[in-house]
Amino acid sequence: MVFGRLSILVALAVSQLATAASIERRTVTCPTGQTTANEACCVLFPVIDLLQEELFDGGECGEEAHAALRLAFHDAIGFSKNGGKGGGADGSILAFHQTETTYAANNGIEDIITAQLPIFQKTNLTAGDFVHLAAAIGTGNCPGSPQLAYSFGRPPPVAAAPDGTVPEPTDSVTDILARFSEAGFVTAEVIWLLASHSIAAASKIDTSAPRTPFDSTPALFDTQFYLETLLNGTLLPGDGQQHTGEVLSPIAGEMRLQSDFAFAQDPRTACLWQEPINDQAFIQGKFFAAMKKLQVLGQTGLTDCSDVIPVPASLPGPITFPAGFSEADVISACTATPLPSLATIAGPKPTVPPVSVHHFPSS
Ligand code: HEM
Ligand SMILES: *[C@@H]1O[C@H](CO)[C@@H](O)[C@H](O)[C@H]1NC(C)=O
Ligand SMILES: *[C@@H]1O[C@H](CO)[C@@H](O)[C@H](O)[C@H]1NC(C)=O
Repeated sequence: MVFGRLSILVALAVSQLATAASIERRTVTCPTGQTTANEACCVLFPVIDLLQEELFDGGECGEEAHAALRLAFHDAIGFSKNGGKGGGADGSILAFHQTETTYAANNGIEDIITAQLPIFQKTNLTAGDFVHLAAAIGTGNCPGSPQLAYSFGRPPPVAAAPDGTVPEPTDSVTDILARFSEAGFVTAEVIWLLASHSIAAASKIDTSAPRTPFDSTPALFDTQFYLETLLNGTLLPGDGQQHTGEVLSPIAGEMRLQSDFAFAQDPRTACLWQEPINDQAFIQGKFFAAMKKLQVLGQTGLTDCSDVIPVPASLPGPITFPAGFSEADVISACTATPLPSLATIAGPKPTVPPVSVHHFPSS
C-alpha cells in the first residue's frame, strides 16, 4: 500500500519534471523554416527579411538603422505614467506622422517615416509592432549591440502623441530627467539609453553638415561615445559656426549635443556617464533592460517574441582614444570612478566622415 502510493507520487513527480523540461525546450518550426518558442511569432520572420532587404540595405548599421532607433524613442516617449499624454510605444509617430512630424523635436524624422511607410504597408503588423520591430532589427545590425527584446501584439494607435514629450538638446539636465521620470525612467536609465548616440548622427542641428556623427564609430554600438564626449572641446564645426543645441567637440567631423555634454559633466550624472566606458558587457545589459521598458511603454498583454531577433555581431576589440588624443584631453567631473586605461590609435588626428546615405532622399 505505502509503496504503491509512493511509486505513484514518484511517477507523478517524474512526469511533471518531464513536462516542465519539454515546455522549456518547446520550439515551433514556422512555415518559413525558422524556429521560435511561440507560433504567434512566426509571422514576424518574413517582415524581418523585408526590413533587412528593403530598409537596411541587406543588414547594415547605417543611417536607416540609426534613424529607426531614434523613431522608436520618439514614438515611445510620448507617454506619461500619470496619463494625459500619448499611448507610448504605440506607433503613433508612424500612423499619425502628419501631426507628429510638425513637432520641433521630431525635425528630420520624416526621412525614416518616408522610408518605412511603403514597407509597413506590405505587412499586416500594427504601426507600433512595426516601428519597434524595425528598431530592434536595425540596432541589432550594429556590432556590439545587445540582442534586444521584442514584444508583439500592440493594438493600432488611437491618436497622435501631444507635442512637448520629446526632449531637445537645449533642454537642461533637470528638465530632461523630469520628462524621463514622468515616463517611468530613473536617471541611470537615461544615461544608459544614451548609448544609442554611439550609433547616431545629426542632420538638422548643423544643416550645412548633414549626418555628422556623435562619435568616431557610428557603425558600432560601443562606448566610444561616452569617452569622446569627455574630450576637451576646442574645435568649431566645419562652417565655423556654433549651432543651437551643439557645443564644441575637439574631433573634426564630429557633433556634440549640448545635452550630452551637460550629462557628461553634471554632478548627478558624471559618474554614471563614465561607468560604461570600455565595459561592453555592462552597457549591453543596461541598454537591453532600459530599451525593454521603452519598447512597451503604455502597452499591456503583449507576446514575447524576443527569440525572432537575430544575435548581433561582437565588437572588433576594445575602445581606444582617437588618434592624437589621450587621458590628458579628458575633462572628467567624476572623481569616484577612474577612467580605465585605454590605448590611442596611431597616426594624425582623424576627420570623422559623415554617415553615408543609402535610400534616404537627399534633404
Ligand atoms: C536624452 C535626451 C535626448 C536628446 C536631447 C536627443 C537629441 C537628439 C538629437 C538632437 C539628434 C539629432 C537629430 C538630427 O539633427 O538629425 C539625435 C539623434 C539620435 N538620437 Fe537622440 N536624444 C536623446 C535621447 C535619445 C534616446 C533615449 C535614444 C534612443 C534610445 C536616442 C536615439 C537617437 C539616435 C539613434 C539618433 C541618430 C539618428 C540618425 O542618425 O539618423 N536619443 N538625438
Ligand atoms: C496579410 O494577411 C492576409 C490575410 O490574412 C494574408 O493573405 C497575407 O499573406 C498577409 N501578408 C503578410 C505579408 O503576412
Ligand atoms: C581645454 O583646452 C583649452 C584649449 O587648449 C585650454 O585652454 C583649457 O585649459 C582646456 N581645459 C581643460 C579643463 O583642460
